[in-house]
Amino acid sequence: MNQPAPVRLALFGQPVANSQSPRIHALFGRQLGIDVDYRLIETGTHGLDEKLAEFRRLGGTGANLTVPLKQAGVTLCRRIDEAARAAGAVNTLRLTDSEWHGYNTDGGGLMLDFKRLGLDIARRRVLIVGAGGAVAGLIQPLLKHNPSSMVIVNRTGERAEQLADRFDRPQQIYGGGFGLADENRPFDVLIQATSAGHARGLPPVKPAWLAGDGRVYDLNYGPAHQPFANWCRERAIEVSDGLGMLVGQAALAFEIWTGRRPQIAPVLAELLAE
Ligand code: ATR
Repeated sequence: MNQPAPVRLALFGQPVANSQSPRIHALFGRQLGIDVDYRLIETGTHGLDEKLAEFRRLGGTGANLTVPLKQAGVTLCRRIDEAARAAGAVNTLRLTDSEWHGYNTDGGGLMLDFKRLGLDIARRRVLIVGAGGAVAGLIQPLLKHNPSSMVIVNRTGERAEQLADRFDRPQQIYGGGFGLADENRPFDVLIQATSAGHARGLPPVKPAWLAGDGRVYDLNYGPAHQPFANWCRERAIEVSDGLGMLVGQAALAFEIWTGRRPQIAPVLAELLAE
């Protein structure tokens, strides 16, 4: 009997060389008995159309977009889902009726990881530190889980203010500079969403921002998580890194492409063991 052709997938972005996505999708494929061929395609916005067309000619039916292409994904797609529209960013493409359709699974991936960690934000006070591209896609999925309030603080306060203003639930979501966290503390959940760790830096987070039983989550993983991990360890604060979110967003993308949702916990365990 002939083997079915593999599902041809790829990650487009710059840089992509150190991406964990090929490994994650290979593990998902093995888990569900689906043969996947997941490639890395290095490109910036200039050249994306051409590379995508070539990928399609070679049988590509699904893709992920990463930095710096997520915003470009919005204009590239014939249709985008609600999460991508709210985020202003697309991280997943699927070829449907010969057109690319765009999705954003980042927020859903974070919520899957929160579920895995038993982290329920309903009726909780949530603080997000950072207001960059990584945060935009998380606000709506977080709001859907009914936190009692959400405060976004950022080095550039106006950026957090503008982000908060985009969501029509002003009674629940506020944005501003770091001083806003001092004014509204303590929080039940703190999400570290700045990219400071990539340059071995730290945002000026204070332990006093956290309630006694407060939970802390860093969207970063690997070396970019280390500075904040160290800061937390020195203060006996427990923190989860963003590897689970990475696997979670990948699981939702895999489901969009194949109709099957893989389990994230065994894949996460395997990545940690490696
Ligand atoms: P990303 O897509 O990773 O969110 P980004 O859009 O460049 O990248 O946003 C980076 C975020 O990290 C921003 O919130 C940025 O703050 P500013 O908007 O003020 O630039 C934040 N950030 C980066 N380095 C930081 C540092 N050393 N201290 C505090 N915040 C930092």
